[in-house]
Amino acid sequence: MKGILKILPGLLLIFFFYAPAMADPEVNSGLKCLICHGAIKGKVEKTKVVIVDIYIDGEKFSKSVHGSFDCTACHIAYQGSPHKEPGGDINNKDIAELVPFVRAKSKVDPVAQAACIKCHASIYKTLKESIHGQNIFIKKEMDGPLCLDCHGSPHYIAPKTEKESKVNKFNILHTCGNCHDKKELAKNTIGANT
Ligand code: HEC
Ligand code: HEC
Ligand code: HEC
Ligand code: HEC
Ligand code: HEC
Repeated sequence: MKGILKILPGLLLIFFFYAPAMADPEVNSGLKCLICHGAIKGKVEKTKVVIVDIYIDGEKFSKSVHGSFDCTACHIAYQGSPHKEPGGDINNKDIAELVPFVRAKSKVDPVAQAACIKCHASIYKTLKESIHGQNIFIKKEMDGPLCLDCHGSPHYIAPKTEKESKVNKFNILHTCGNCHDKKELAKNTIGANT
């Protein structure tokens, strides 16, 4: 709650400043979200363990592989009113089925985590069948990786050929190494997707 109180005065200013933009029907929902999320810098303590960074760097997002999408392409439950409690109308059976499995790996919006399946269905299928996926989907343990454990922030994913990518050949050892012994990994086949 403290965090929210701290950012409220900022919010009022933002509304004042952006009022004409908000009235413009041409502004798509992605930009509407960024009116606040691209402007407020701060973290909000949802619970003792869940701390949410609400700032999204709009320019960096627009250059990412998903930069042409609206925020609601993944934050589907936030359609309509921005902060409708996640779990709203998802209208997609694949996503709805995944949500309970990925909930424990999500901080605030399991629908957004599950939404990757909408456009990357075959990768999701491969992951589910892998040792990593079975850890989450069959054993229901949570130490195996889901998409973001290997690809980093969902807002700034770069093509794998670029050095910013967490799965670029220069970063992959570090990314897998968050959970694995690096020497062991070097002997394994690195580059396998899941
Ligand atoms: C009027 C300003 C404003 C707008 C517009 C807005 N947000 Fe937020 N958002 C906030 C604030 C403030 C928080 C943190 C407060 C809290 O946790 O309740 C937040 C938190 C979030 C969170 C973290 C989880 C949560 O519920 O706290 C997500 C995800 C999110 N917003 C997504 C979106 C998306 C997607 C849109 C556009 C559809 C959007 N927001 C539009 C101000 C805004
Ligand atoms: C490619 C899918 C995708 C897109 C597009 C996307 N998000 Fe997210 N976002 C996610 C996922 C997944 C999470 C993590 C959810 C969780 O851990 O519960 C997340 C988390 C967040 C959070 C919480 C940050 C934190 O500390 O976890 C905010 C705020 C947020 N998104 C806002 C936005 C805004 C604003 C946009 C548009 C500019 C946007 N998102 C676009 C997938 C996406
Ligand atoms: C609305 C459709 C859509 C959603 C939802 C979506 N993606 Fe994507 N994603 C794309 C498109 C389109 C591309 C670019 C196509 C390409 O270059 O292969 C892409 C590219 C990627 C890349 C490839 C980067 C590279 O190496 O080229 C990764 C990784 C990725 N997405 C992960 C995710 C994750 C993780 C989620 C869920 C949080 C997600 N995507 C949600 C459509 C989507
Ligand atoms: C264990 C780590 C790991 C997990 C988990 C993971 N990925 Fe990947 N992903 C990679 C690596 C490594 C590559 C690059 C593969 C290569 O170089 O060919 C990659 C490549 C990709 C690409 C680029 C297209 C391609 O085939 O090269 C997309 C899209 C993608 N991943 C999406 C996802 C999505 C969506 C999820 C969750 C369902 C996911 N990944 C889970 C490690 C992972
Ligand atoms: C979030 C943590 C995490 C990340 C990141 C991660 N892994 Fe794993 N990995 C695990 C866990 C946990 C297991 C064991 C799963 C089980 O048996 O339930 C595992 C199992 C494996 C196995 C099978 C090992 C065996 O002895 O059975 C291989 C190979 C592997 N990971 C490679 C990778 C590679 C390559 C990457 C990076 C692209 C990676 N992992 C990223 C957590 C992770």
